[in-house]
Amino acid sequence: TPATFAVRGGASSSVPSSTSLGATAIEVDTKPIEGMRPGTSGLRKKVEVWQAVDEANKNYVENFIQSLVDTAMDNNEGKPLDTLIVAGDGRYFNNEAIQIIVKVLAGNGVKNIWIPQGGIMSTPAVSAAIRTLEGGKAQGGIVLTASHNPGGPGEDFGIKYNEGYGQPAGEEFTEALYAKSLELKTFKTVEDASDIDLNADVGTTFEITDGSTVTIIDPFDSYMESLKGCFDFDGLKKFCQRDGVSILYDGMHGAGGPFAKKVLVDEIGLPESSLLRSDPRIDFGKCHPDPNLTYAADLVKKMGLKADGSSEESVDFDSIPMLGAANDGDGDRNLIAGAQCFVTPSDSLAMICDNWEAIPHFAKAGGPKGVARSMPSSAALDVVAEARDIPCFSTPTGWKFFGNLMSSKEMFDGTDYTPFLCGEESFGTGSDHIREKDGLWAVLAWMSILMKANENVPEGEPLVSVKDIVKNHWAKYGRHFYCRYDYEAVESDSANEVMDLIRDSFVNGDVSSAESGDIELVGAEEFGYTDPVDGSTTSKQGLILSFKYPSGDTARVIFRLSGTGSAGATIRMYLEKFEKDQSKHDEAAPVALKSLADRALSLVKMTELTGRESPTVIT
Ligand code: G6P
Ligand code: ZN
Repeated sequence: TPATFAVRGGASSSVPSSTSLGATAIEVDTKPIEGMRPGTSGLRKKVEVWQAVDEANKNYVENFIQSLVDTAMDNNEGKPLDTLIVAGDGRYFNNEAIQIIVKVLAGNGVKNIWIPQGGIMSTPAVSAAIRTLEGGKAQGGIVLTASHNPGGPGEDFGIKYNEGYGQPAGEEFTEALYAKSLELKTFKTVEDASDIDLNADVGTTFEITDGSTVTIIDPFDSYMESLKGCFDFDGLKKFCQRDGVSILYDGMHGAGGPFAKKVLVDEIGLPESSLLRSDPRIDFGKCHPDPNLTYAADLVKKMGLKADGSSEESVDFDSIPMLGAANDGDGDRNLIAGAQCFVTPSDSLAMICDNWEAIPHFAKAGGPKGVARSMPSSAALDVVAEARDIPCFSTPTGWKFFGNLMSSKEMFDGTDYTPFLCGEESFGTGSDHIREKDGLWAVLAWMSILMKANENVPEGEPLVSVKDIVKNHWAKYGRHFYCRYDYEAVESDSANEVMDLIRDSFVNGDVSSAESGDIELVGAEEFGYTDPVDGSTTSKQGLILSFKYPSGDTARVIFRLSGTGSAGATIRMYLEKFEKDQSKHDEAAPVALKSLADRALSLVKMTELTGRESPTVIT
């Protein structure tokens, strides 16, 4: 009998039961629905689309899942799938969607359908469960999330598919799914099946048809095991008892909260008061569950910071928690801050790399065998990787591009144990312990760095802070000033005009044709990528403009269209400037980069073409 387990309060003690629903598989006529092409990370639409409020969207979930199952079956030699996980981030429509999906999967003869108790799992936890639960028996996972996009009526819902190693399905899969969705004539489901009790005890089974059974699984097990393999939980527990060590975690009412409670409170022994907004809510408490300086405003303030990342000097440093962190709606993104010190995601990645000795997962192998960042992330990682002699890769935006690299042993020294570190400017950090970015992993990585930095500091002496670590890092390697402007919900045509202008005038044209300015445009290219493992290629992954200041300093600005929005287009402008001179490191990034931003915006005619005077968000 599997152990029983209670997710939220309430002791569960009864023996898991088995219920037979005796439903019948049926095939239902449907019509293809346009627009089901998954983006960077699954298909995201307004929830009303999924709910099929409009007659034109009738059977939206069923159509999408049928196309997904058909694609997965093609990849399974045409055979029905044996085991799939279905879990979501808990947003509005989560549980209704699970019930619909279960029926479609049962109609398609999927033998085992695993659902976490409560229906909620963070994205990294799903990835871990696909990899290791019952020896990695699951062939994939259907993840119900629109990640950091808001949830609730009028907001976003999304579905994505993760394959056997726990990695998001690649473009080949999503394109095949899309093609099927345009030709779909019927979907399979079951009739006469009552809904599954998502809060049943772990181990409870519901036999939907003869050939298809739902089992309620423990959401935490596999994930906890994978984190314990990466970090020294006993050491962290002791460290957290030291005077002056305190941590604040903001779950943004997403799926990460219960996992943070399990790790930080139950295992590491931090007080409950370390957790903010850690109860999942269907509308994320009406917040925008994206952990950045704008949307995690309360945490940012509590860490003694202003919205531009600079410090609020009037707050007493010693009264601020040592480490602050926030995760997004599905628990895979992270924001890291120390007292009066915001750590940009690109810096965080570089610093984790430079401090690999503090993280057992890497230390066991004498350091990561390889590291990677998405192209728009800053080159802070590259500088460390070079100094520490670690192979470093730059990939297109999207976690899936790290998958091949981290699964490849041959690329490195061929040994079985090839730990890998990767991250993105979009607040994603993680390693090869799973195949998704991992918000809590980043929190534990920083706790481990702080623990190591303080191991020789005697009781009673001031502790080494995040700020100390960051400043020392910049002093040693130089600082990559970095920030991002987002123009959200721009009309698609105008967004394309901006991109076309850059392409036509500068990439294919001539940079010297640019109107002159203080900061000189010296180069332009469009990023494309060839995967070094399987040779696959991806083009048009961002337009890179290179600049030169009168002082001789260089900088770059990248323009890219977001792949995760659900309405219109989002233009992202990424700004980066390297500064070796330590005396200039204290400036706030948006200030240091302001003239570069203005110069780039005027070159690409942002205001003329989009009508936008200023960005929606600066992070
Ligand atoms: C998701 C993916 C990330 C990616 C990000 C980019 O969060 O999981 O890997 O970096 O989207 O989002 P964007 O909106 O810039 O396409
Ligand atoms: Zn996410």
